Amino acid sequence: MIPIVIDTDPGQDDAVAILLALARPDIFDLSCITAVAGNVPVAQTALNARRIVELAGHPEVLVYAGAAAPLVLPLTTAEFVCGPDGMDGAGLPPAALPPEAGHAVSVLIETLQRAPATICALGPLTNLALALRLAPEIAGNITQVVLMGGAMNLGNITPAAEYNFYADPHAAAVVLNAGLRVTLIGLHLTLSAIASPAHVARIATLNTATSRAVHGMLTRPRPGNLGSNGHPMHDVCVPGYLAWPELFTGRDCHVGIDTSDGDLRGRSTIDWHNRLKRPANVFVLDSIDATVFFDRVIDALALLP
Ligand code: BDR
Ligand code: CA
Repeated sequence: MIPIVIDTDPGQDDAVAILLALARPDIFDLSCITAVAGNVPVAQTALNARRIVELAGHPEVLVYAGAAAPLVLPLTTAEFVCGPDGMDGAGLPPAALPPEAGHAVSVLIETLQRAPATICALGPLTNLALALRLAPEIAGNITQVVLMGGAMNLGNITPAAEYNFYADPHAAAVVLNAGLRVTLIGLHLTLSAIASPAHVARIATLNTATSRAVHGMLTRPRPGNLGSNGHPMHDVCVPGYLAWPELFTGRDCHVGIDTSDGDLRGRSTIDWHNRLKRPANVFVLDSIDATVFFDRVIDALALLP
């Protein structure tokens, strides 16, 4: 089993990523979920995480709210993609229970001081960067960070940048330069992680509360100009990679982050061909077998109520 913490800003694709982790306790030992401001403000991302664990029949999973704003820049949310509550299409009731009282950054530190864990980072990297700044020794207990962020090609929130890195570029720079083992799953890969019509139809046939929520999120109207038809399941690739690394390819690269507040804010410069001759700091994934991936994700979702 892989001990993990999920740091997240649900978000429809975050929701499906969390569901995948909860569906496979034989693979993932989930210690807790830490929420961060991103797609919507942190009070709502924490409540959304509660709604997801309750949907999955795991109300015992602890959810903590963390940073309300990026390290330096003001928060940019993405309701225009995710809807007013961040989980448009899911049709879920409000959370029955509130998040826990502790702060997500303190909980990340305490969890990593106790035992090694892999961080599944599905949103802006603010919580993790703060934890590393407050308690740098936790780096030694981070087995790896598998993150959704960045892009080798065009961005989505701007032409230059993917949303998670754009939202908190300074936090991304902290995490990428902390000497950790980091696996990066960027838009160049996740824009291929789109469920086919046959996959979407199969989700509908599961006819469970979970499948109805996932089906609703995958079939909701999609705003234009986002660079894909259908809803890419960006964040699902994070637990997907940990569970089934054989479905992905990648290589070690140097990755730099633009922390300016201009047009290039949050851009990831991925030196795929090692032109800069700098030491690699990131394992960058570049391909996914999306057909087998969605077969397996749906098999897993079928295990939930
Ligand atoms: C990332 O941004 C968020 O809106 C998604 O949840 C994903 O983490 C994609 O750019
Ligand atoms: Ca996310």
